[in-house]
Amino acid sequence: MPTPHLTILPNNPDFLDLPWSEPLADWKLPNLVELPTGVHRHVVRFAAYGERIYAIKELPLRHARNEFTSLRILQERRAPVVEAVGLVERAWLDPREEGSAAVITRYLDYAFPYRELITGGDFGPRRAQLLDGFAGLLVELHLRGCFWGDCSLSNVLYRYDAAALDITMVDGETVELHDVLSAGQRYSDLEIMVVNVAGGMADIAAESGGSIDEADMTLGAEVIHRYERLWEELNSDWLIGPDERYRITERTARLNDLGFEVAGVELEPVENGRRLRLKVEVGGRSYHRHRLSQLTSIEATENQARQILADLRYHEAKSGPSSVNKAVEAIRWRIGVFEPLLAEIEKLPGGTGDTVQLYCDFLHHRYTLSHDRGRDVPNDEAFAHWVAAGMPGHPLP
Ligand SMILES: Nc1ncnc2c1ncn2[C@@H]1O[C@H](COP(=O)(O)OP(=O)(O)O)[C@@H](O)[C@H]1O
Ligand SMILES: [Mg+2]
Repeated sequence: MPTPHLTILPNNPDFLDLPWSEPLADWKLPNLVELPTGVHRHVVRFAAYGERIYAIKELPLRHARNEFTSLRILQERRAPVVEAVGLVERAWLDPREEGSAAVITRYLDYAFPYRELITGGDFGPRRAQLLDGFAGLLVELHLRGCFWGDCSLSNVLYRYDAAALDITMVDGETVELHDVLSAGQRYSDLEIMVVNVAGGMADIAAESGGSIDEADMTLGAEVIHRYERLWEELNSDWLIGPDERYRITERTARLNDLGFEVAGVELEPVENGRRLRLKVEVGGRSYHRHRLSQLTSIEATENQARQILADLRYHEAKSGPSSVNKAVEAIRWRIGVFEPLLAEIEKLPGGTGDTVQLYCDFLHHRYTLSHDRGRDVPNDEAFAHWVAAGMPGHPLP
């Protein structure tokens, strides 16, 4: 029996226990788990190793190599993509297709395919979140030189992210990486998205017994609209006077507020030195996520992190002026407030799963309760009220 060629990244199982000589569809193993997926062409199966779950996708070698390499590079460029873990080459299987291969990716915790978002044949109140999520994802990928070539409702994974929706690229077979994308490349990628999303919406309408006329066909065009606004905000150059350096701080703060990190600032004299052109190099959309992780080691998605940092500041303000530094305050808050509350959440009947998102739901509830009562409601009281109310989530737009 020929042996497969495995490339596995560190800190993962070696996957040598899997029956690579057989087609993926035929595998019968106790650690294979059934999980919901989007619409797809290739065989995809999920294997559990302890707490971790991996997705294994079987596809022709050439596509597998491209997907594995592209996902790895995109991950290095800090783009929102699933983590590629391994490539398995089985050249002797299916020689017509220049060999069969498999790509292994880390299962994205708490993520789900689009079906969970649909109610009665459309995305209902989550539609606006979906538009922003897709626009944000495409902007981030394009900023990193990624022409995707197959953006669709099924080729991404969704996660709740405080009051927003976090969207991650999962299918990278068609990716082409460049240093910089031209406007033409960006727009042809957006056109592919429009066609794919319209196809997806037509399928959704058909599945729920509706007609094409009833399908939501403007979704893709609206994603482009939001994409353009965001792209403009991130990529426009400002002209500032020599005594207007404060506007550099202003520009940085605006980008951070949108969640983007600023990787660099460039000032170029124009108009014979009368003004300066301010160019910013935009980094990943993980400003609050990194800040929270640095201060407290808590891992969260971008908007969750923003909300949790606000909670940290709220507790700092409540505890009055302090002589200790920010890092110590942050650790005190984590040990004294955050972790005990998370432990309480885990004990609740509906408290398993994405506990960080549940914590954010609680924070939102505490805020509305305090607002209604016109005073700060303490955590204990707000928590009891939230549980009694059935642990409501963030209101939908
Ligand atoms: N790492 C992963 N985490 C969670 N789900 C995944 C992962 N990889 C794939 N999936 C699921 O499998 C489906 C198919 O994967 P995809 O890469 O799009 O395959 P195909 O090339 O056949 O379209 C996706 O829609 C997604 O639901
Ligand atoms: Mg796919």
